[in-house]
Amino acid sequence: MMNKTKGIVVGVLMTLGFGLVACNQNSDLHRNPGRVYAPDMFYSRAYDAYTYNPNFADSQSSRLPVPGAIAMGHELPDHLKEGDTIAYKTFTTNFRFNEDEMKEGKRLFNIYCAICHGPNLDGQGPLFASGKFAAMPANFKDAKYLHMPMGQMYAGVKFGKNMMGSYASQLDTRQRWMVIAYIKKTQSENGGDAFTLGAATSTGNSIDDTTNKVVAAKIGKNK
Ligand code: HEC
Repeated sequence: MMNKTKGIVVGVLMTLGFGLVACNQNSDLHRNPGRVYAPDMFYSRAYDAYTYNPNFADSQSSRLPVPGAIAMGHELPDHLKEGDTIAYKTFTTNFRFNEDEMKEGKRLFNIYCAICHGPNLDGQGPLFASGKFAAMPANFKDAKYLHMPMGQMYAGVKFGKNMMGSYASQLDTRQRWMVIAYIKKTQSENGGDAFTLGAATSTGNSIDDTTNKVVAAKIGKNK
């Protein structure tokens, strides 16, 4: 008795199912999703990224940021000009980095710089040590670099220097300063100047011009 009922139910469902599939056969190259529950949730009313958008001359939904926009936690553009070595020397930053960010600076250094400058910052990176790279990378523990102004280091990373290429496309402004903070910290422990880029708290902070206090920007943790 039970089995018979089951059979009937399954039979009815299958007929319905085939019926629905059949209705769908010829419509719009099988792309019709059939019935949609809550269509105004299924079909977004907002313009999706990369979709056609009649509101803009180029018909694109994805827009560039407004010119001059600065991401949260970032500094104003630096306006340095390549070759202006006088400006390099006085150029500085408002960023102050906490311990996590100092670790991040070290991590970035080991990824991008250590191959030449060496994990010990002594210019003996594996690429140079192998003899395949002819130019001696800066030895940051050498007297020649111990007191190098950080703005000059920044310019080196941004524009490159002789045989060293620019790292501007790999590291954003904040990351460049994180790496430099790591170099400066290490230098301060090896006879260089006192370290000034550290802070107890804060991520992506800046100095408030009126109060001269460090203000932490609310940004995500940089992993
Ligand atoms: C492919 C090898 C190589 C890599 C990778 C590299 N450098 Fe260099 N770097 C050099 C060489 C070579 C010099 C020496 C340039 C000169 O004075 O002729 C140099 C010089 C420098 C200087 C001194 C600039 C000056 O004004 O004298 C700084 C600062 C520096 N590098 C930082 C970095 C940082 C930070 C990174 C990682 C983001 C990095 N370098 C990655 C090869 C490299």
